[in-house]
Amino acid sequence: MLQVTQDLHLAVDELVHGGVIGMPTETVYGLAGNALDASVVSKIFAIKNRPFFDPLIVHVASMEQVKLCAQEIPEALRRLMLKFWPGPLTVLLPKTDTIPDLVTSGLPDVAIRMPAHPMALALLKQLSFPLAAPSANPFGYVSPTSAQHVADQLGEKLNIILDGGSCEVGIESTIVAWDTTTQKVQVLRLGGITIEQIEKELEDEVEVKISSSRPSAPGMLDQHYSPTKPLFLVENQNQIPVDGGMYGVLSFNGNLVGPITFELSTSGDLIEAASRLFAGLRYLDQQPISAMYLQLLPEQGLGRAMNDRIRRAVIKSGIH
Ligand code: TXA
Ligand code: MG
Repeated sequence: MLQVTQDLHLAVDELVHGGVIGMPTETVYGLAGNALDASVVSKIFAIKNRPFFDPLIVHVASMEQVKLCAQEIPEALRRLMLKFWPGPLTVLLPKTDTIPDLVTSGLPDVAIRMPAHPMALALLKQLSFPLAAPSANPFGYVSPTSAQHVADQLGEKLNIILDGGSCEVGIESTIVAWDTTTQKVQVLRLGGITIEQIEKELEDEVEVKISSSRPSAPGMLDQHYSPTKPLFLVENQNQIPVDGGMYGVLSFNGNLVGPITFELSTSGDLIEAASRLFAGLRYLDQQPISAMYLQLLPEQGLGRAMNDRIRRAVIKSGIH
């Protein structure tokens, strides 16, 4: 029986006994279990219906736990960890034998991050192991930003969802790696920490290597984050077909209106918009509409990460 709770003890008990729970983070909700136990990790893949070639992020609460998981930390990545942890930044580091191969899908590097959500940090501090956690959505669907989102789709498969409210950031962590050949930091997934923030901290340019063709690259499959209803990109209001029946729009600063409108930010604030993007897609997906429309956001700051998610969500409709 599912319990949606704020009681950390219940979560600890479930995790210590090999269970998998819904866990809040500041980015999106995660589907969390003991990262050091391959049988627990395989349960995570099964619940999410996720292919085994798509590796998981390991969540830690301290640098000691990083040492348990990673052999070494390149200097530039250490700098980013010191600046942006706890927070929406994931680093790829050479893994130790302690991390089961299943976690990394057999890759030599493990993805690690320290989440900033106080409940996630408190939970991790009460455990003797780090937590492997992908976003808590069925594979390919929109990521969850509230406990209710998790309950809606995975509730029947879980005993515990820790309710930490709505996710503040609302978009997944930025994934970075160290390229030994070019001696540069590579950004493998755009996310909650912007390219601008990273380059400012490093005082150097980064390589943006967002790939979709190689499935072992950060989960960047072309079609991802997709709602069930057809989603179309438009450049302005005039491109929305007027005889198209009931439809919904995701608006930014009033740029689109429809019979059903979900406003991402009335003040044109990209941070607010990022925190509402996935909730908006889910909201419209549940309305009695036949299609949804949206425009790309300004290609700067968090707008870049949002546009990345939007393009992948749209591809399903064949319009991009
Ligand atoms: O904000 C986040 O990162 C959220 C919260 C729950 O922490 N997690 C998340 O996990 O977005 P997930 O599994 O939905 O996406 C993680 C991505 C995957 O697409 C995966 O391919 C990539 O990180 N990844 C994980 N480990 C990797 C590795 N060893 N090498 C390359 N990519 C990796
Ligand atoms: Mg995901």
